Amino acid sequence: MRALSRVTGVSRVTGVLGLSEDEVESVLTAAALAPSVHNTQPWRFRLEEDRIELHADLDRRLPATDPEDRELRLACGAALFNLRLALQGHGIRPLVTLMPGHDAPGALAVVRRGGKLLLDDETHQLLNAVPARRSNRKPFHDVPVPVRHRQALLRAAERERSWLHVVVDPEERARLQRYVSKAHRIQQADRSVLDELGEWTGERTAGDGVPPRSAGPRPAPQDEWAMRDFLAADGGERASGKDYESDPLVLVLCSFYDGPLAEVQAGQALQRVLLTATTLGLAVSFMSQAVEVRVVREELRRALGGTVVPQTVLRVGFGSPVPASPRREVLEMLVSPEANGQLNGHAGG
Ligand SMILES: Cc1cc2nc3c(=O)[nH]c(=O)nc-3n(C[C@H](O)[C@H](O)[C@H](O)COP(=O)(O)O)c2cc1C
Repeated sequence: MRALSRVTGVSRVTGVLGLSEDEVESVLTAAALAPSVHNTQPWRFRLEEDRIELHADLDRRLPATDPEDRELRLACGAALFNLRLALQGHGIRPLVTLMPGHDAPGALAVVRRGGKLLLDDETHQLLNAVPARRSNRKPFHDVPVPVRHRQALLRAAERERSWLHVVVDPEERARLQRYVSKAHRIQQADRSVLDELGEWTGERTAGDGVPPRSAGPRPAPQDEWAMRDFLAADGGERASGKDYESDPLVLVLCSFYDGPLAEVQAGQALQRVLLTATTLGLAVSFMSQAVEVRVVREELRRALGGTVVPQTVLRVGFGSPVPASPRREVLEMLVSPEANGQLNGHAGG
């Protein structure tokens, strides 16, 4: 690969946060393994000797699916969590400022070096889970998630100042199913939402999007939960014998506040939850329709008591292996020195 220093203008000798070029590349590679809606990877990094800035890549917005850039910020928060872990893997305590304002105009977060750190066991396991984690849209095995696993996921969300709501009550579960179906129907009737899905699915050459191998089975009428149809363009019925588990663990990840900062925070919590699930051998997929469609999201928020803000809905269980989805080259995610003065694009709300 071309030297990072040539693209970023940072000196090869002093490097970024005292890391070598290879180390910086591995840290950013880890960050970019975060999930994002339709695998848009809507993040950019600006490198300076004393900091790594995380910016939203507004060219990768999904105006129909995610009109307020809320999920874009969740994805950037997830990338930030991976970045924190990867720096810890290099013995650096990351000092994070969210929404730094004048300090780094337009950035969602700035990460500086906060001293040395010895990696603890838990962080080590989470770091190992970064390349192993994936969205698993296949049916899960009909095996319940043990209570202690569920508790570990709740703790993971709390550690990142967020809340994981477990949908256990059958009535509440039925209500959430109705919300997901309603939102799914609204999206299926929206040409611009379907166009975005079509644009970001199938075989793309750019190292992004959702390829057919990651799509999961096509939805069928007997499904309890309405899943996104990533194979709509390919048509065809679902093969028999591919039905979904009858009782997945369903979780709603929530923030305590509304707004961009809370969303970046919730994205970090999302990633800690997903990586914790990976360390426990659990598979996870998303069912975000109910939080993407504004009117349904408001209904869901009221149903949750109105004090927490639903950010995403997760389906958790024990699954069979699925392949990794593609990622772009690190160099494509960097802000070049010429663009440094032009980072006014702000997804900070
Ligand atoms: C905020 C957010 C919402 C998502 N919503 C959905 C969804 O509704 N349905 C789905 O199948 N995948 C959803 N995804 C998963 C992405 O499609 C997935 O992360 C991306 O394709 C990359 O694949 P990976 O997670 O296996 O790395 C969502 C991801 C994020 C971060």
